[in-house]
Amino acid sequence: MPDRDDLLRGAGEVAAAVREGWPEGAAGRSGPQGVADRTDALAATGPSMETLLLQALGDDAFAGVSPAIHQTSLFTFDSFEQMRSTLDGREYRYVYTRGRNPTVEAFERMIALLEGADEAVAFASGMAAISAVLLGTVRSGDRIVCVRNVYPDAHRLMTQLLPRFGVGVEFVDGTDTAAALEAVAGAGTPARLLYLESPTSQLFELQDLEPLAAEARRLGTLTVLDNSWATPLGQRPLSAGVDLVIHSASKYLSGHSDVVAGVVAGSSALIERLRRSELMMLGGKLSPLEAWLLVRGVRTLPIRLERHARSALEVAGFLESSPHVKAVNYPGLESHPQHDLFRRYFRHGSGVLSFELEDERMVEPFVDALELFSLGVSWGGYESLVYPSLLGHLTGDEAGFTRYFGVPRALVRLHVGLEDPADLIADLTQAFSVATKGGT
Ligand SMILES: Cc1ncc(COP(=O)(O)O)c(C=O)c1O
Repeated sequence: MPDRDDLLRGAGEVAAAVREGWPEGAAGRSGPQGVADRTDALAATGPSMETLLLQALGDDAFAGVSPAIHQTSLFTFDSFEQMRSTLDGREYRYVYTRGRNPTVEAFERMIALLEGADEAVAFASGMAAISAVLLGTVRSGDRIVCVRNVYPDAHRLMTQLLPRFGVGVEFVDGTDTAAALEAVAGAGTPARLLYLESPTSQLFELQDLEPLAAEARRLGTLTVLDNSWATPLGQRPLSAGVDLVIHSASKYLSGHSDVVAGVVAGSSALIERLRRSELMMLGGKLSPLEAWLLVRGVRTLPIRLERHARSALEVAGFLESSPHVKAVNYPGLESHPQHDLFRRYFRHGSGVLSFELEDERMVEPFVDALELFSLGVSWGGYESLVYPSLLGHLTGDEAGFTRYFGVPRALVRLHVGLEDPADLIADLTQAFSVATKGGT
């Protein structure tokens, strides 16, 4: 049974205990209650994740309820022999914070525990995590298969930077499993890496992880998934066969819009390789202070996420009933074309969704009229946000946006924050009324 000491000791043993708590792996499980069943089975084996997150990681030296911040760049040694045995790996000690730091490790262990992973490694941003995974995996001449409408900077990394090193990318419709797998197989030369984001963060399309990951593994292709939207409390991709899970920890894991960070979770072999090579050589290290803020943020993740998800579903239902809205993209809605996959892979949703206004001319007056939704990028904090895709079309690569992402010009993304959902719906209502008077 995982307890507080397990968490302090290391995530590897805890992850094993977590996996043992699940009667079966995700493979072969189907039906709407798949993930929920496994979570219940876990609960039956010991304290729930929520309890563990609250109990774990106090300050052992002085019995503080909050852990200490080890805000130091380096660690010193008592003797030549002690330093030598540390550097050659016989003794586990800290050396330099770009490699390991106790506060950063505390955050990494929390994420490994939550994802059911052997280990996790933290980075200075989600993009530092994504670029380390990609650069650490591909070689010149390799091919990546990636879902369309992936996070735009990941898209730019794959289309602008990686081609300079002879790496190609093929974008696929992730909702079409057979087509995606055909692309992975290629003409006899399987892709090196399959990059998933489920749901995608603009159109909220899901992927069927189990068949994708199983076939990719058979072909020798590594599967990675950006799980920022769901967090490990909503979806656990490793149990569906995915090899590496990536998070922009700047979103829900931090939860307070005051941190930029990233993290990757997976097997010890893959994570240790990332830590030893890409993290050390590219140097995108998370700072101890940021890690401490993340530990604090993750403790309240269960309750925050539950509220975000409940309110987002309410807002999505309201938007669905509006005559000014052409389509609502939120996988938690029963009307979402992949709602069956949502019920199969997700314990619950989160607070980000998008919708298409009936007329592109409504976009500007609508977002300007909103009072409780601030205009801004990102999401995952306590506050409600609005981001119109039109800004991406107008200020970015218009052709790229339309061709690669298939994002309509009248698409508006909302982050539903922790405010009272009735107030948020009232705000949307008044903004619709302003936009329809002024814009159409
Ligand atoms: C889905 C998704 N993945 C990755 C990232 C990149 O994360 P970061 O901003 O922490 O580098 C973002 C940022 O918005 C995102 O939305």
